[in-house]
Amino acid sequence: MSGATATLWAAPRLGAAPEDDQRAALPSNAGRSLRLAHITDVHVQPELGAARGLAQCLHHVQSQPDAPQLILNTGDSIMDAIEAGADRTELQWNLWQKLLRDECSLPLEHAIGNHDCWGLNRTKSGTTGREPRWGKQWALEGLGLASPYRSFDRAGWHFIVLDSIEPYQDTYRARLGAEQLDWLKTDLASVPKGVPILVLGHIPIVSPGAVLNGVKETPDHNLELPGALTHLDAKPIHDLLRRQGNVKLCLSGHLHLVDRAEYDGITYISTGAVSASWWKGIRLERFDYGYALVDLFKDGTFHYQFVSYGWRTVASEG
Ligand SMILES: [Fe+2]
Repeated sequence: MSGATATLWAAPRLGAAPEDDQRAALPSNAGRSLRLAHITDVHVQPELGAARGLAQCLHHVQSQPDAPQLILNTGDSIMDAIEAGADRTELQWNLWQKLLRDECSLPLEHAIGNHDCWGLNRTKSGTTGREPRWGKQWALEGLGLASPYRSFDRAGWHFIVLDSIEPYQDTYRARLGAEQLDWLKTDLASVPKGVPILVLGHIPIVSPGAVLNGVKETPDHNLELPGALTHLDAKPIHDLLRRQGNVKLCLSGHLHLVDRAEYDGITYISTGAVSASWWKGIRLERFDYGYALVDLFKDGTFHYQFVSYGWRTVASEG
């Protein structure tokens, strides 16, 4: 493992109340329940040094002087399976699994990203849609998951993993769907009073970065936000989270932007991307190759920091 030193910089704090980062000033970790790392949008592939980049990122996480005990991964683990044939998809999942096996000794919890879903574009991938591993099945196998959405408890917090991806017309859109929304309602109701909740999923439920980078003005002067950028069902999801009363933090990726918003006491954060601009450089000249360290405290507060892990773009590598 490398002994790289963490470079810390704060995420853009769009919409966040100034008192949110009070923990940053605390001299100790008194009351902390768990330190975790949030990685997202790794997009591992044989090219552009991505495998070495992921290894460097994992080493950086594990070499932290105050190392996390858990890694949350919010998807797009492989470069792309939407348009890839079976051979290329297998190669990418094999690479992903080998890197985690060889380079990571921490437990991981995974969500599925759109690029993890095999063959959604049937024409480009050469699939029919009837293959046993078509869609999410190969991603479930690649990530070692029994279900695309689930929940678990750790260190006095309740964690909910959402599946943001709804296959739609040879691509996808961001929606839980009725069945998952019902499950979410039931799961939230099952959490004992006083237990803080963290939600993770690939596509942001709320994202100021999506508004500032993905919105277009329509001919009749409305703003239009594509349903693949943030959740189409953001309002019903947020309403469920708000009514539960103890949902503190929602972590996502997808946009490769670092952003943050707070509404009704719930903080929504996107953690950029381990791959920055898909391993081709810094994203939008300011979002570096990185991950987040998140401290969760017993009283339901948290502290978040984005960490650059020092990767430098390579021109090309097979
Ligand atoms: Fe991505």
